[in-house]
Amino acid sequence: MSNNEPAKPNQLRNANRLKLGVFGTNGNGAAFTHHPDRFRCSWDANVRLARTADRLGLEAFVSAARWKAFGGDGHYSGDLMETFSWAGGIAAVTERISVISTLHVTLVHPVFAAKAAASVDLISGGRAGLNLVCGWYPAEMDLFGVQLKQHADRYALADEWVDIFNRLWTGTESFDFDGDYFRIRGGINQPRPVQPRPFFMNAGGSPRGQAFAGQNCDVAFIIPQNPDPAFVKTQVDQYRSMAREKYGREIQVWMSAYVVQRDTAAEAQDYAHAYIVEQGDDPAVEHLIRENIPNAQAMPDGAIAHMSYAFKAGYGGYPLVGTAEDIAGRIEALSTAGVDGILMTWLDYEDGLARLAQGVLPRLEAAGLRAAADKA
Ligand SMILES: Cc1cc2nc3c(=O)[nH]c(=O)nc-3n(C[C@H](O)[C@H](O)[C@H](O)COP(=O)(O)O)c2cc1C
Repeated sequence: MSNNEPAKPNQLRNANRLKLGVFGTNGNGAAFTHHPDRFRCSWDANVRLARTADRLGLEAFVSAARWKAFGGDGHYSGDLMETFSWAGGIAAVTERISVISTLHVTLVHPVFAAKAAASVDLISGGRAGLNLVCGWYPAEMDLFGVQLKQHADRYALADEWVDIFNRLWTGTESFDFDGDYFRIRGGINQPRPVQPRPFFMNAGGSPRGQAFAGQNCDVAFIIPQNPDPAFVKTQVDQYRSMAREKYGREIQVWMSAYVVQRDTAAEAQDYAHAYIVEQGDDPAVEHLIRENIPNAQAMPDGAIAHMSYAFKAGYGGYPLVGTAEDIAGRIEALSTAGVDGILMTWLDYEDGLARLAQGVLPRLEAAGLRAAADKA
């Protein structure tokens, strides 16, 4: 098999100063709540959302990878479609948007990933991308009979993983590889993909995670320590300089955000309060924090409460809450601070994308941050 068709455009390569993505529709979204508007994953909803995002000219449609629920077996946070199968389906119903499979490098072998990603690349005409995560949730590792590695070892494995993946994608000659984590004999990847390399994303927040992203990835995420754009600018500048100076690479620096857009700021605040505080799924988030942060008990109450609120709101993302004008203004400030892209979640994705198209995108276009989109 070879790719005889011309490559399709890949939005992650476009010239928009501020790029936008949608995150987490392969599962039940990113909010931990019992609010009735919470997104319920279905394939039909994914097709509608992907086509809308594609038509609006958004850059990336990004899956989340999760093998075990947070609130105990059967909890909605575990209902996620496997990310390569999902990406193949999304690729088939879209034209321009980049389709990103999130995968655990500690659980998914690079030989399998190279073939699966090449398949999505062929289906999409050159729009496959990978969000590389190392994993941190012990229950997921147990499921595979794998021991959760020390933090530095996870990223050492990730470095080897990327080396092997790159050789499989670019090389036409078979090779052997002897590393600390992988041993390959006669490594080769067929069929040949469309792109020379897929876009790699990584959302590591630690210095080691950032070094990995700076060295290997095209899109990195900052997790802001302070929401003020002046502080965000410092974090973005540091990240970009590290990639440039240490690895000679230019990277896009993105953030993830949860969006609550209403006609008035008060309505947006009330709606956020209702789904996050009044109807928030506290037990699931407590479980998540307990598993994720071994020393959580030692943290001050305020810090835990803040973290819990952010997880319930949308998987710890940055708040974009208010009117279209407020949200567009905040995004513009982040762009001025050097942020290249925002990966968005909503409680109700279909309603959220419709509001974004009507109120926020025209303002971003008027500000020169994005080319005009088809909002019909
Ligand atoms: C936007 C975003 C998306 C993420 N998606 C996933 C995911 O789907 N699965 C997962 O196990 N971890 C995910 N993570 C967690 C990161 O991969 C990473 O483990 C975490 O940010 C901690 O960083 P560190 O590995 O440098 O300590 C995500 C993080 C962010 C900010």
